[in-house]
Amino acid sequence: MKIETKINILFAIVFTIGIIVSGIVSSKLLQENAQQQVTAKAQILIQVMNSVRNYTNKRINPLLESRLQIEPAFIAETVPAFSAIQVFEDLRNNPTYKDFFYKEATLNPTNLRDKADSFEAELVNKFRKNKNTKEISGYRQFPEGENFFIAYPLAVTQQSCLQCHSTPEAAPKSQIASYGSFNGFSWKLNEIIAAQVIYIPASQILSSAQRSAYVLIGALIIIFAIILFLINLLLRRTIIQRIKKMAKVAEKVSTGEINSDFEKQSNDEIGALAAAFNRMKKSLEIALKILEQQTY
Ligand code: HEC
Repeated sequence: MKIETKINILFAIVFTIGIIVSGIVSSKLLQENAQQQVTAKAQILIQVMNSVRNYTNKRINPLLESRLQIEPAFIAETVPAFSAIQVFEDLRNNPTYKDFFYKEATLNPTNLRDKADSFEAELVNKFRKNKNTKEISGYRQFPEGENFFIAYPLAVTQQSCLQCHSTPEAAPKSQIASYGSFNGFSWKLNEIIAAQVIYIPASQILSSAQRSAYVLIGALIIIFAIILFLINLLLRRTIIQRIKKMAKVAEKVSTGEINSDFEKQSNDEIGALAAAFNRMKKSLEIALKILEQQTY
């Protein structure tokens, strides 16, 4: 096998292993990175949702409270949860957030749409058990596919919440008319009643990580190909072509063409070899001459 082939095979093996290993490591890191980015987005969204809730509670509710008590139709705009969900729905018109899903998963909800399923109920119970847990995230399998979720505890932090969530008697009549008197009551002050959960399809996280991984691996392959090309060029220029020339001269000398000389070369190892061959050839010529003189 030629030196060139051997070196190329060796490099190809090393590069392939290098690309596979860096591909695996980088796609894992990039996935973590994509997950962190989504988590950061979700954290901001939840904070904004809480601000919307507070705004409704502090500004809108007092403004409409008197009408709430007398008007027959319930004014949903007075409800913090309502404004948060509406604002989030509006946000989903933005392509960046269209796959995000927001739920105030509640154990005993006023609107049954918000009822925590068994998975979400477990999250609420975890928050209840350990008051120091401020965030839970992970992956969850749905029939439509896997989702990344991030959840935060939601507590009854203000007395004003209990106006509508303590007993049916205390709640506005119009609320009872719209939502009934069975759900969303008996909540206590400072009790964690729900988990605010944001869901994002895992495929979205994976695909953005995958895209970055492909770009990185593509760049690595190009860099490796350039290195391999340069190594071959260098190998040919500095070693292989010169050795081939020397081999040709040696071939000629060995068949008696004593006049051909090993080319004078640069001052590297091959140059030294050529110089040594030339000296050897000279010694050989002298030895031959002496031999010739002795035979006559
Ligand atoms: C004016 C009455 C009213 C007030 C005040 C009120 N809520 Fe509600 N709340 C409701 C109604 C009605 C719903 C159902 C809204 C819907 O259909 O989306 C609701 C929904 C919720 C939900 C979603 C789960 C569910 O029950 O459907 C949570 C969580 C919640 N409220 C918490 C609170 C907290 C915390 C406060 C105090 C900051 C508060 N609410 C103040 C009436 C009220």
